[in-house]
Amino acid sequence: MSQAYEIIEHRYDVVVLGAGGAGLRATYGMAEQGLRTACISKVFPTRSHTVAAQGGIAASLGNMGKDSWQWHMYDTVKGADWLGDQDAIEYMCREAPQAVYELEHAGLPFSRTEDGHIYQRPFGGHMSDFGAKPVPRACAAADRTGHAMLHTMYQQALKYQAEFYVEYFALDLIMDDEGVCRGLLAWDMNNGTLHRFQAHMVILATGGYGRTYFSCTSAHICTGDGHGMIARAGLPLQDMEFMQFHPTGVYGAGMLITEGVRGEGGYLTNSKGERFMDRYAPNAKDLASRDVVSRAMTIEINEGRGVGPDKDHIHLHLEHLGADVINERLPGIAETSKIFADVDVTRDPIPVIPTAHYCMGGIPTNYKAEVLRPTADDPEAVAPGLMAVGEAACVSVHGANRLGCNSLLDLVVFGRAAALRCGELFKPNTPHKPLREDILEPALQHFDRIRNAKGSISTSQLRLRMQRTLQRHAAVFRTEDTLREGERLINECIKDFADISIKDRGMIWNSDLSETLELDNLLVCASALITSAATRTESRGAHAREDFTERDDANWMKHTLSWARDKASPAITYRPVHTYTLTDEVQYIPPKERVY
Ligand code: FUM
Repeated sequence: MSQAYEIIEHRYDVVVLGAGGAGLRATYGMAEQGLRTACISKVFPTRSHTVAAQGGIAASLGNMGKDSWQWHMYDTVKGADWLGDQDAIEYMCREAPQAVYELEHAGLPFSRTEDGHIYQRPFGGHMSDFGAKPVPRACAAADRTGHAMLHTMYQQALKYQAEFYVEYFALDLIMDDEGVCRGLLAWDMNNGTLHRFQAHMVILATGGYGRTYFSCTSAHICTGDGHGMIARAGLPLQDMEFMQFHPTGVYGAGMLITEGVRGEGGYLTNSKGERFMDRYAPNAKDLASRDVVSRAMTIEINEGRGVGPDKDHIHLHLEHLGADVINERLPGIAETSKIFADVDVTRDPIPVIPTAHYCMGGIPTNYKAEVLRPTADDPEAVAPGLMAVGEAACVSVHGANRLGCNSLLDLVVFGRAAALRCGELFKPNTPHKPLREDILEPALQHFDRIRNAKGSISTSQLRLRMQRTLQRHAAVFRTEDTLREGERLINECIKDFADISIKDRGMIWNSDLSETLELDNLLVCASALITSAATRTESRGAHAREDFTERDDANWMKHTLSWARDKASPAITYRPVHTYTLTDEVQYIPPKERVY
C-alpha cells in the first residue's frame, strides 16, 4: 500500500497534458466546442518548447512561387524515406494552408511580402514539381515563428475559457480494468498536493525526449513524460530509433541555428573552405533534407576536413547576406550566435555541428489523434480515452526523417483533429463513470517509491551516464556493436535507478524529485530507442547503419513497436506502414531511390 495522501478531485470533459503548440491547439479547439477542458503543464504555457521553433510553418500557400499540397505531400513522403503513413501525410499537407490562415486570423504576426502576403522562405527538402527545385514554403514570423504561435494560441485558449493548471507534473494515467483511460494523477509542484483529474479523453501533448542526449536543441523539459506514462500503462511506443540530428546546432552549446539561415542563402563549408554539399546533394545542395546534410557534415569531420583546432565541426556562413537581411529576417540568430558562440554573424561564420533535435518516434496514433493499441489481428486498434498529438505522437507523418517546418504544421493540424474527434465522440458535460476505489494505487506506489528513494546514486550522475551513452552509441552513424554496447549501458542505468537517492526526501515540493521523475521517463525512451535501433538492420532516414548501408523495403517497410513497461531491452513487434492514401484524389507514392 502507498502512503495515505489527500487527493484533490477534478472532473472535466477533456484533459490536455502539455501546453506547447499541439496542446494549446487541442485545448482551444475543445473549449471552442463547449467541452469543459483543463490544460495541465509543467511550465507556464508560453515557456513550452514550441517557443524555440524558429524558421517557419510549412504550407503550400504559393505566395512566393507556384506550389501545391500534392508537391508538399510528395516531399514529405520522400523526406520520411517512405516510413510515413501516406493517409496521414495527405491529411496534413491538404489541411496546411487552412491551418496557417486560421493562425493568421487568430492574430499571428507573420512576416510579410512587399504586397502584404505571408512571407515564405525555402527549407530543406521542400521542392516544387515533385522534387525539381527548392520552393519557398515555410511561412515565417522572422526567426521566431514558434514564439509567435504559442502566444497567439494561448490567447485563443483564454478566450474560450479553457482552465490551466500550471507547474503541475503528471505522474500516471488512470486506466480502468477494461483498459480505458479515465484521467490522470498529477502533482502540484508549487505546494506538493496531489490531484486526480477525471476526463472522457486525455490528450498527451507532452513533447519529445530530446533530453535523452547529451547535446540537443530541446528544452530541459523535453523528457518524454507522456512516453513514460504510456509504457507504464502497458502500451507501445513506435519508431523510437528515429532521432533527427539537426545539421546546425551551435558547436559546444547545442542551441538551434535555424535551417532558415540556409533558406535565406546561407551555406556550409569545411576546413578547405569548400561548399561540400555540392558533392552530396548536387541538386538541393545545402537545402537537402536534414538526415542527408547531417551525414555529409559527419563524413567531412570524420575524414579530417572539419574546422577548428580539433577539426570537429563545420562553418555556417551568412556574412554575405548583409546586415539588413540579417536584421530583418534572422535577428534571433544574430543574437544566439553572439551569446553562445561569440560570433558577429555579419563578419564571421557560425561554428555548427549536427545536434539531436527531433523525435520522429513516439506514441502511435491514427490521423484523428487516437492512440493505438495494436494487436496481431488489428494493427489499427484504438486505446479508448487516450489521444496523443505533436512531438509526443507518432502519427506517422514524419516517418524516418521529418522535413523542417512540418513540425509546427503537425502541431496545429493534429491538435485540431483531436478536438474535432472529441466533438464527435462525446457531448459537453457527459457524466463520469464511478471509479474503483483503489484505482490510483499503482500510480501512488510508483510515486512513493521514487519520492522515498534512499540509495547512493544521484539523479544528475545517472542522467549524465544515460545522455553520454546515447550521444556516443546512437549517433548519426550506428553499427550493431555500438548499439548493443549502448543497450548494455542503458540497461545498467535502469538497474542503477533502483539505487537512486532523492535529495531533501520527505519535502514533497522538491526539484530533485521532479528531475528524478523525469529521469524515470527518459530511461523508458532511451531504452526503447537503443533496442529499436539495434533491431532495425537497414538504413532509412535518420537511422544510418554502417553495417547495413541500404534501405531494405522488402523487409523493413514496417513501424517498430517497443513495449517498454519493464524498461530494459523492451519486447519489439511491428505494424505495417500504411500504403494507401485517404482519398482517391491522390495516389499512393511507391518507394524509389531518394536523391536530392
Ligand atoms: O531549423 C529550424 O528552424 C527548425 C525548424 C524545425 O525543426 O521544423
